[in-house]
Amino acid sequence: MKYDVVVIGSGPGGYVAAIRSAQLGLKTACIEKASTLGGTCLNVGCIPSKALLQSSEHFAWMQQDSKEHGISCQNLAFDLSQMMSRKTKVVEGLVQGVAWLFKKHNIDSIRGTATLLPDHQISIEGKTVEFKNCILATGSEPIALPFLPFDEKVIVSSTGVLSLSKVPKRMLVIGAGVIGVELASVYRRLGSEVTIVEMLERICPTMDEGLSKALWQSLKKQGMTFHLGSKVVGAERTKTGISVQVDQNRIEVDVVLVAIGRKPYTKSLGLENCKIDLQRGFVTVDANFQTSMPGVYAIGDLIEGPMLAHKASEEGFAVAEILAGNRPHVNYMAIPNVIYTHPEVASVGYTVEEAKQSGLEIVVGESSFKGNPRARCGGFTEGFVKVIGFGPNKHLIGMHIIGPQASELIDVGVMAIENRTTLKVLAQAPHAHPTLAECIKEACGQALNCAIHSQ
Ligand code: FAD
Ligand code: NAI
Repeated sequence: MKYDVVVIGSGPGGYVAAIRSAQLGLKTACIEKASTLGGTCLNVGCIPSKALLQSSEHFAWMQQDSKEHGISCQNLAFDLSQMMSRKTKVVEGLVQGVAWLFKKHNIDSIRGTATLLPDHQISIEGKTVEFKNCILATGSEPIALPFLPFDEKVIVSSTGVLSLSKVPKRMLVIGAGVIGVELASVYRRLGSEVTIVEMLERICPTMDEGLSKALWQSLKKQGMTFHLGSKVVGAERTKTGISVQVDQNRIEVDVVLVAIGRKPYTKSLGLENCKIDLQRGFVTVDANFQTSMPGVYAIGDLIEGPMLAHKASEEGFAVAEILAGNRPHVNYMAIPNVIYTHPEVASVGYTVEEAKQSGLEIVVGESSFKGNPRARCGGFTEGFVKVIGFGPNKHLIGMHIIGPQASELIDVGVMAIENRTTLKVLAQAPHAHPTLAECIKEACGQALNCAIHSQ
């Protein structure tokens, strides 16, 4: 069988590329080695982690904040197995949705591990298909520490930690990046004593420095212990768990989560058969996502850039458009980052440090949720909005939010960057009252010295 497009991998990069290709009239197949479609994101990433974050956040709210609202509950308890089965149901529903979309668009869904062969062919465990164009979307995998190999029971990766059968009494998290702080939040809320070891001097080091500090303070208040600028140098299994050497300290825990980053996944892909270039493990692509082998493209976690589901999807959509002869573009400046902790953290565009390092002339405005009426009504006044304007017209080039519903509010910043909107427009546009978005208006006003409520 010869296809116009064969996509390898059905994660948010691959399945979007396949669907868009089919919508554009290209004969398309998608090969997936796992038993379900949806990749890391749907099966063992974004979705299951957010389902557990939501359940544990409800519990923490009932336990700590409900009384203030006049709500009390006798014998409050949680059932971990119910939380896990709910998580599985959420995942199953979305995974089936992808299968349904493939059917709807007449995409051939092929199960098995794909290996590239020379001459525009792919072998799938004995079968062979031919392609005009192939899109590699095989994603990434967790990085392990050599002395802490994953057994997914005591030494877990992000995959194992999403399916623990009981809440560990003591948990050590190595790496205070996105996975570290999100999954530590889940188990801390459910009662684990959580210690986080980070080799750099601050948590989530790529984030705006002010937000990073604010999140760190908040997580400490929630009871997490941090060892920043620290290194895990060894570990020994004990009868009940594991004893980990962190610099001069020995820390005994029941479960260790290793969350020190992810690396591109290229096992069995046969890149060597087609002389496809790699750099630092990432597949090298040109501005059209084409690899060093004509007709073979790559997207998502497999190529350089932030390892984010929506980044992978944007690239999947774009590459399909390119194959259909269109000229799409991905605006990397407008790709937001969100951390689903409490409070949530979200950012888009330049940080203040990046803007300064690039020599940009900027204005910065900030507004705290403390003064925001909607935040006060809800009882979540922690955090602030920071906006960065650039040039004579003060276009928005960065927005950083820590606080309630930051994940949703950041879309204002995304749209503003996409449309080259100025701080003045954002400060003058009417916002419904009372809403959390008024904090964005106020931060823009503060940058322009016309804020009503902030100094
Ligand atoms: P993947 O989703 O990794 O999909 C690759 C697919 O290719 C897999 O299904 C794999 O089985 C298949 N495959 C690999 N090799 C072959 C082969 N040879 N043949 C056939 N099939 C193959 N991102 C966000 O934006 N928001 C979040 O909230 C978020 N949360 C996350 C939480 C966790 C715990 C983790 C681990 C990640 C999270 N991410 C999040 C990151 C996000 O999951 C990834 O950026 C995204 O899934 C990358 O998409 P992709 O299509 O490039 O690859
Ligand atoms: P990460 O790159 O976000 O964080 C890894 C952290 O580990 C860094 O702070 C790093 O300094 C630290 N580190 C590295 N080696 C270490 C060591 N030996 N000892 C101690 N600390 C060490 O990677 P993470 O958290 O594993 O996530 C992987 C990817 O998944 C991220 O790039 C992210 O984009 C994606 N993801 C996105 C989410 C979201 O969008 N909400 C949620 C979860 C993951």
